[in-house]
Amino acid sequence: MSGADALSGRVVVVTGASRGIGLATSRVLAAAGAKVALWARGAIEVEAAAAELGERGLAVPVDVADPASVEAGVERVREAFGGIDVLVNNAAVGRLSPIAEVSQVDLRDQIGINLEGPIHCIRAIVPEMRRRGGGDIVNLSSDSVLRPFPWLGIYAATKAALETLSTALRAELAGDGIRVSLIRSGPALSSFAAGWDPETAALAFEAWQAGGHLDPACVLPPERIAEAILFALTRPPEASVETLDLRPRRK
Ligand SMILES: NC(=O)c1ccc[n+]([C@@H]2O[C@H](COP(=O)([O-])OP(=O)(O)OC[C@H]3O[C@@H](n4cnc5c(N)ncnc54)[C@H](OP(=O)(O)O)[C@@H]3O)[C@@H](O)[C@H]2O)c1
Repeated sequence: MSGADALSGRVVVVTGASRGIGLATSRVLAAAGAKVALWARGAIEVEAAAAELGERGLAVPVDVADPASVEAGVERVREAFGGIDVLVNNAAVGRLSPIAEVSQVDLRDQIGINLEGPIHCIRAIVPEMRRRGGGDIVNLSSDSVLRPFPWLGIYAATKAALETLSTALRAELAGDGIRVSLIRSGPALSSFAAGWDPETAALAFEAWQAGGHLDPACVLPPERIAEAILFALTRPPEASVETLDLRPRRK
């Protein structure tokens, strides 16, 4: 198969698909022939993103933190595309706050979206994959798991939990023909920091640069992460990308 049809006939759900890495992934997987269901909360944004992909895109407003919304999303994809072969657990949020001062809302959102969200999606979609005889689950992690940024500690902890969950899930699904891949990305250009208070963000960026956590000249375009996901999904059945660490480098 050529690159243009490497994923032909496969149905993919990408969560958090309206912007950033999720949108880039949806474009790359659709260009490789997949039918892509784009999930995100904001209906207008997700409709616009799916419209770009023509018949290969389906907009489904879903809140991954809400199990009923996830179930309804699965039903919508089943009606439109007949089933699901691939789940890309990409949706996540990071809220800037010292751990000792985190608000209940920020705590709940990060755990609900970043950790419970992928679990809701896995629980709803694995039966679809089993019906089709196999599939792929790709979980998006962050290299902040290895070196947590101060003020993003809860975010990093949810990603560390997702990594542990991925290892257990891989063993549980080995007999079902379902592969589990973890893509651990370094800093990327996206709207991840868009909602942060500018003054707090400026202080955080200063601290991260001083502490060697972040080099502003060294960030990944979202397309590079999308390509890593495509690489994992296009390995032949006898191979599995278990963990792929993708880091930016200075040109
Ligand atoms: N950016 C980085 O530097 C970086 C580095 C390493 C790893 N990552 C990981 O890459 C993934 C994507 O990050 P990004 O930077 O591309 O983020 P982003 O630009 O902020 O986009 C986040 C996407 O997730 C959606 N989303 C948020 N909450 C949701 C929910 N409850 N249900 C469904 N969709 C939801 C957003 O749409 P709505 O708000 O409309 O729902 C949006 O489409 C995340 O898992 C992140 O941890 C990012």
